[in-house]
Amino acid sequence: MSAKIIAVVNQKGGAGKTTLAMLLAGSLADRGRRVLVADADPQNTALHWSSMGSGFPAQVEDVSGEESKLHKALRKRAEEFDYIVIDSPPAATAPVTASALRAAHLALVPVIPSPLDLWASVRIREAIILARNKNPELEARLVVNQMQPNTVLAREVLGMLPEFGIPMLAASLKGRTAYRQCAALGASIQSLGNRAALAVMEVDALRREVEGLLRGR
Ligand SMILES: Nc1ncnc2c1ncn2[C@@H]1O[C@H](COP(=O)(O)OP(=O)(O)O)[C@@H](O)[C@H]1O
Ligand SMILES: [Mg+2]
Repeated sequence: MSAKIIAVVNQKGGAGKTTLAMLLAGSLADRGRRVLVADADPQNTALHWSSMGSGFPAQVEDVSGEESKLHKALRKRAEEFDYIVIDSPPAATAPVTASALRAAHLALVPVIPSPLDLWASVRIREAIILARNKNPELEARLVVNQMQPNTVLAREVLGMLPEFGIPMLAASLKGRTAYRQCAALGASIQSLGNRAALAVMEVDALRREVEGLLRGR
């Protein structure tokens, strides 16, 4: 079976692309899947994360130099892995982002529930629509990140999301220190153990939903 490819994309820096890509990849790898994180951001934050310790369970490689040829480079690697998770730069119109969206079965767009972040994400929706010209099967989901439940603002912004035109994943990520700890330790969330039980459950739910979306693809 050839790899299912997930592109984590957003025009907005700080939306949580690298966090989402690494948590998801770590969770899939901890379940025994063969996972590559293709770090397409020249800042190489995903690569830094994995180099902070020796325990990150997925393979992480710098692919930022592939530019518009990324989809071809990943196709060649597809038999080696069950999942390829692409972490991308905050640039909706960059050639490497277009190439990532061309390769992907699923685009995940992390968004912080704030109007400023939503407005800044409009470009990525256009990039996803454009990518469907060459990749008509491309699915896309918004992933709410740094969720602060039970606030008026969260309710208002969540109410705006359906108008965005990309369906929302039911699973979301709350703002949690545990996720920053993972990056500091070069680890996956599972390896934090009991200290991070709620975070582990949250990431598990997200992984299961993503696996479900990709089943049969
Ligand atoms: N759910 C979260 N909980 C806590 N911190 C988070 C969360 N998501 C992102 N962060 C932090 O926010 C900052 C930006 O996240 P990052 O994943 O690097 O975004 P991007 O890759 O989109 O630029 C980082 O310091 C990261 O640790
Ligand atoms: Mg990043």
